[in-house]
Amino acid sequence: MSLSDAFATTVYPPFPVSRPRRLRASPLLRSLVRETELRVDHLILPLFVRPGKGVRREIPSMPGHYQLSIDVLVEEVGAARDLGLHAFILFGIPESKDARGSSALREDGIIAEALRALRHAYGSDVLLITDECFCEYTDHGHCGLLQRRGSGWDVDNDATLSLLAEQCVLHARAGADIVAPSGMLDGMVAAIRKGLDTAGFSHVPILSYAVKYASAFYGPFRDAAESPPQFGDRSTYQMDPANAAEALREAALDVAEGADLLMVKPALAYLDIIRLVKDRFGLPTAAYNVSGEYAMVKAAAARGWLDERRITLEILTSIRRAGADLILTYHARDVARWLQQG
Ligand code: PBG
Repeated sequence: MSLSDAFATTVYPPFPVSRPRRLRASPLLRSLVRETELRVDHLILPLFVRPGKGVRREIPSMPGHYQLSIDVLVEEVGAARDLGLHAFILFGIPESKDARGSSALREDGIIAEALRALRHAYGSDVLLITDECFCEYTDHGHCGLLQRRGSGWDVDNDATLSLLAEQCVLHARAGADIVAPSGMLDGMVAAIRKGLDTAGFSHVPILSYAVKYASAFYGPFRDAAESPPQFGDRSTYQMDPANAAEALREAALDVAEGADLLMVKPALAYLDIIRLVKDRFGLPTAAYNVSGEYAMVKAAAARGWLDERRITLEILTSIRRAGADLILTYHARDVARWLQQG
């Protein structure tokens, strides 16, 4: 039964018998009746990896986040673990890019190497998630192979599927615990499931970016991952922000193709979609509190216009309240620290 169904069948006596303020009278009382909990084990920290040694390159639009070489990444993950964070999603900035994104499929590619280093350092005490897409590896910045379409170019959906499956198998072999395809290609979950199963990775779950909108909130990420499209935009594969029924169709397809977890992205402007997807499918549901959402809070907080701690906890609590089980967020370290302090 959904929340609104419950209210339809309950009769509340009017004021002055009912006085909702009775249950708000003290901190202990409020905490007794609090409905939504935000815990550190709900959080997934995104990290950016690049080649080199000792590299810690600032990302100006995402204060507190850096492109890290693998040695520094290992230290960062160790520090995050000390804060109680155990789940990480990795994004790679490769040595070189080409039209096919071939560096994504190299055995010694940046993400494969990072996975091996982290697994070696922390064994099963970390949960490693890999973002599976080609936009960080292609010189044109689109999420797959391109084909001519009319007078321009478009992502070649079906030709990209087998490459995506290959990328996932490579990462599973290198130690990924969960693969997370983010390209919004039709049929991607089925292709990846088949590829993983055939290669002996039937135990590796798929977290599908099932409902991903063509959003302006990804701006800072594209600086961080050096992945902005060099021409056009992503609206031939990512969803129109105006659509909700389509989100349910997208999610239904991914469920049917074998997705183990569903993601909605971005989060804050799409809380209604999180609720719809959670209620309809009941799968573990993730929300991506994306780079632009993070940058807005950081920018306003830096000017003293918002209380960073309160606003961040309020935002993440609202994402949980909307139905998200898991939250991918750049605030994860700060939140872990705040929750530790109580
Ligand atoms: C790759 C990918 C993107 C993000 C996550 N995976 C960028 C995009 O689709 O353009 C965005 C994450 C963020 O903004 O924090 N396809």
